[in-house]
Amino acid sequence: MKVTVVGAGAVGASCAEYIAIKNFASEVVLLDIKEGFAEGKAMDLMQTASLNGFDTKVVGTTNDYGKTANSDICVITSGLARKPGMTRAELLGINAGIVKSVTSNLVQHSPNTIIIVVSNPMDTMTYLVHKTTDLPKNRIIGMGGALDSARFKYRLAQALEAPISDVDGMVIGGHSDKGMVPLTRLATRNSVPVAEFLTEERLNQVKEDTKVGGATLTKLLGTSAWYAPGAAVSGLVQAIACDQKKIYPCSALLEGEYGLNDLCIGVPVVLGRNGIEKIVEINLSEAEKEHLSNSAAAVKTNNANLEL
Ligand code: LAC
Repeated sequence: MKVTVVGAGAVGASCAEYIAIKNFASEVVLLDIKEGFAEGKAMDLMQTASLNGFDTKVVGTTNDYGKTANSDICVITSGLARKPGMTRAELLGINAGIVKSVTSNLVQHSPNTIIIVVSNPMDTMTYLVHKTTDLPKNRIIGMGGALDSARFKYRLAQALEAPISDVDGMVIGGHSDKGMVPLTRLATRNSVPVAEFLTEERLNQVKEDTKVGGATLTKLLGTSAWYAPGAAVSGLVQAIACDQKKIYPCSALLEGEYGLNDLCIGVPVVLGRNGIEKIVEINLSEAEKEHLSNSAAAVKTNNANLEL
């Protein structure tokens, strides 16, 4: 199993680190445009191998896509990250050009790859990959919901004063502050609905804190977060590489599912060796449907700004 991660910045390096540590891939190629940077990160990571006990070979390269040839999975983290006060949508113009050229280089060297898009605005960048390649839709996946759900579980565990391992929950919709739809109705603490423990007001607070999860960190760090995004990507990569058939919310091309068409947005999917093996349609409440439909409208507004 060969995995390429494009962009050796904080998010890309975290992805490579978590994938390597989990020890399921034979090789991770880290590629960056900055001379020597990916090589340095790869060497540093390889020097943790004996300490952390992994055999994954991590290779760094300055923009040599030849080294990425025949990757089974490619992760795109390239582009600018948010600065405090910025929305993800404000990155569209600059990141679209970068993602388009990175995608074309990747597909040229790995025509059978599965692509995971992390660059923001992620749902629109995922749609861009659909529009500019011939890859089947099951092989194009946007990472957002796995991260937003991890942040949701963190906030739920805090509110419940429970260990995170006791908590389950999912966020669907667009990967944006207003677009996220945290499904509090379906969240549980060890199979008991969380509404049994928390007031509606407290649950609404959990929802709001989840939606601004990325913005909160951007304000604290001065740039966007990397540990949880990296861990979320490694979870998706592992589900595919190990054919786990796990359900994760991911940005997927919808063709009628949830009454939506011609956009990529976060919905629950089954991930296995073929990428998105199934889009899972769950029954939503009227309020959740309305929130998802507003979220889809916002994603479509962003998509309309793409120069295809
Ligand atoms: C975040 C970025 C990765 O939410 O979108 O941290």
